[in-house]
Amino acid sequence: MSKLNIVILAAGKGTRMHSDTPKVLHEIGGMSILGHVIACAKTLKPNKIIVVYGFGGETVKQTFSAENIIWVKQANQLGTGHAVQQAVAHLDDDANTLILLGDVPLVDASDCQKLLTLANAKLAILSFNKADPTGYGRMVRDAQGQVSAIVEHKDATEQQREITEVNTGIMAMPNKHLVKWLAQLTNDNAQGEYYLTDIVAFAVQQSVSVVAELTDDEWSVTGINAKTDLASIERVYQTRYAQQLLLQGVTLKDPARLDIRGTLSCGRDVEIDVNCLFEGHVSLGDGVKVAANCVIKNAAIEAGTHIAPFTHIDDTQIGENARIGPFARLRPGTTLAANTHVGNFVELKNSQVDVGSKINHLSYVGDATVGKNVNIGAGTITCNYDGANKFRTVIEDDVFIGSDSQLVAPVTIAKGATIGAGSTITKDAPAGQLTFCRAKEQKSIASWKRPVKIKK
Ligand code: UD1
Ligand code: CA
Repeated sequence: MSKLNIVILAAGKGTRMHSDTPKVLHEIGGMSILGHVIACAKTLKPNKIIVVYGFGGETVKQTFSAENIIWVKQANQLGTGHAVQQAVAHLDDDANTLILLGDVPLVDASDCQKLLTLANAKLAILSFNKADPTGYGRMVRDAQGQVSAIVEHKDATEQQREITEVNTGIMAMPNKHLVKWLAQLTNDNAQGEYYLTDIVAFAVQQSVSVVAELTDDEWSVTGINAKTDLASIERVYQTRYAQQLLLQGVTLKDPARLDIRGTLSCGRDVEIDVNCLFEGHVSLGDGVKVAANCVIKNAAIEAGTHIAPFTHIDDTQIGENARIGPFARLRPGTTLAANTHVGNFVELKNSQVDVGSKINHLSYVGDATVGKNVNIGAGTITCNYDGANKFRTVIEDDVFIGSDSQLVAPVTIAKGATIGAGSTITKDAPAGQLTFCRAKEQKSIASWKRPVKIKK
């Protein structure tokens, strides 16, 4: 296969987004629009990816600083041809170039591949039949049906405007032709722009074949210009992701009520109820069930675990057969081993909980190491923060913490200890004993009366 250069045009201002964020940094499925285009480009294994940027360029460059990309600036947007001219210095003589648009996130790698197999000796263009082609460049064909030119809407005759086959903007050609054609462009047209599309007429004049590859997937060639486009493409992206999951055997109670902003990988017999949001990288093991209204980010959840409704999980690992929620909040740095239970209104942060331990009601457990088969009673709080520093709480195997206890860190509750309900524990509790700390006596005042409302 010949060498491949990919040029991504991304200098457009995106005025219609009405946003201070550069257009190509808005997100689809949790990844920037340009990020999707770059990801597609990378699957084609190019020698070079060249991005032509303009508005908001510095932020755009920073966002992709980890990628191996050549950035070229187009200070003034003088047209798509002018944009590609900015990249000429980086084009390899013996390569083919694929032109992609930085605002078309659902671009299809197999369509690009088709263009590239044609591009060795030809100019190959991805086209599309648009019911309302207004605004698009029209694919003009001669009497033999060969593509003879692309005419932009504003330059088109009434008759040409009847043509519904339009240019998607995605094309591929040998650099030896492209570089020569770019040097021939003029801006003598209705918009005073340097049109990349004028290269089609040059190719025809110079007897280089022009071929159009028709796609029937409109979304894969739809550019984002406004928030309305962003919203519709987001929905398409989500629908397609959900379809993939269904085809893999995941049960989705309603595929229209699932959002994935990142990647979700699922084992066999996974069930996901409605209104769940997955962010970052999430993996769900065999038989995992996620009930309605959960938000799960950067988490690995192992086989047989059930997540009850309204649970929020962030940067957490959960072992097999755990029972989490409803209304649980698992914050970064948390690890739950197999068979653990975390119930309603329990918040865990940077805590490791070992096999079989239970924290079922109304607790805050932060910066804690919890052993095996521990039972943490309702309303238990680890007091991990003194206002300046954070300290750890260690709860060893087989401990029972009575309800409404405060464990003031740093503190260790040794193996098999029991803490009496309502205790504020400030010193280490010895193994195997009952430790408690309460007001000395329980008083009852027989003469006490409830206050009554004072009449005015
Ligand atoms: C272009 C095509 C048109 C095609 C349409 C598909 C030309 C002359 N016309 O239209 O045939 O039907 O795309 O959407 O090529 N860009 C730059 N610098 C510029 C101008 C544009 O980087 O100076 C980038 C934009 O950021 C965008 C892409 O090129 O990603 C297409 O630009 P846009 O203005 O949307 O397309 P048109 O020129 O209207
Ligand atoms: Ca334009």
